[in-house]
Amino acid sequence: MTTRLQYGTPAKIFHWLIVALLAVQYPIGWLMPDIHPDMSPGASMNFHISVGITILVLTALRLFWRVTHPVAPESALPAWQRVSSEVVHWLLYALVLAATLSGWLFASFRGWSVSLFYLVPLPMLASANAAAGRAIEGLHQAMELALLITLLVHIGAALTHAFVYRDRVMQRMLPG
Ligand code: HEM
Ligand code: HEM
Repeated sequence: MTTRLQYGTPAKIFHWLIVALLAVQYPIGWLMPDIHPDMSPGASMNFHISVGITILVLTALRLFWRVTHPVAPESALPAWQRVSSEVVHWLLYALVLAATLSGWLFASFRGWSVSLFYLVPLPMLASANAAAGRAIEGLHQAMELALLITLLVHIGAALTHAFVYRDRVMQRMLPG
């Protein structure tokens, strides 16, 4: 397998599509009504779950693409930046998977039945279990917060490269 020097078009499309979906997903998560015992998911929760599962599927496809089409870090960077950017990128993949899977498990333990975008029934990962649901709710919140913090570090680094170092790093993820 050859290691490329630049991201190809599919990697860039996956990247910016997931950025757009996460930019919608966080506000829905924060604004949707609080969960109460015995409630069934309303429209905003259905949309949150549907967008979340879409992010999960796209991230799994993107990860497969990344593993089969490896890209080398920017060679002009000092070693510590090459290593730290690799660490942050793999952490982002892991946290998106953790945030989406913990959300899906939470919905499963609530015993909900959900159709993605009211179209396709979502298979559940486990049967209803109130105690497990309470435990996993905290995990979903912790993962989604850890993802947000890691994203702020990632976006801060990208902007520092673009506006302080003024090097080619941002260019690597832009069209062209
Ligand atoms: C990366 C994707 C996701 C992000 C960023 C995210 C983010 C959030 C946020 C910010 C909240 C509000 C938490 C709070 O009130 O403090 C939330 C709640 C919730 N999410 Fe997600 N979510 C994601 C994926 C999913 C998925 C895939 C599911 C289900 C299949 C899901 C199910 C839920 C449920 C049931 C709640 C309400 C429980 C609670 O308040 O913790 N989420 N999510
Ligand atoms: C405004 C927001 C964002 C900007 C400006 C940005 C910018 C970039 C840039 C410039 C790169 C290439 C870095 C390099 O070549 O070393 C990159 C890679 C990456 N970004 Fe972002 N990013 C943003 C948001 C996000 C979000 C929301 C995610 C969510 C998962 C994300 C995940 C990744 C991952 C996983 C990589 C590594 C790709 C790989 O090697 O497979 N980024 N980003």
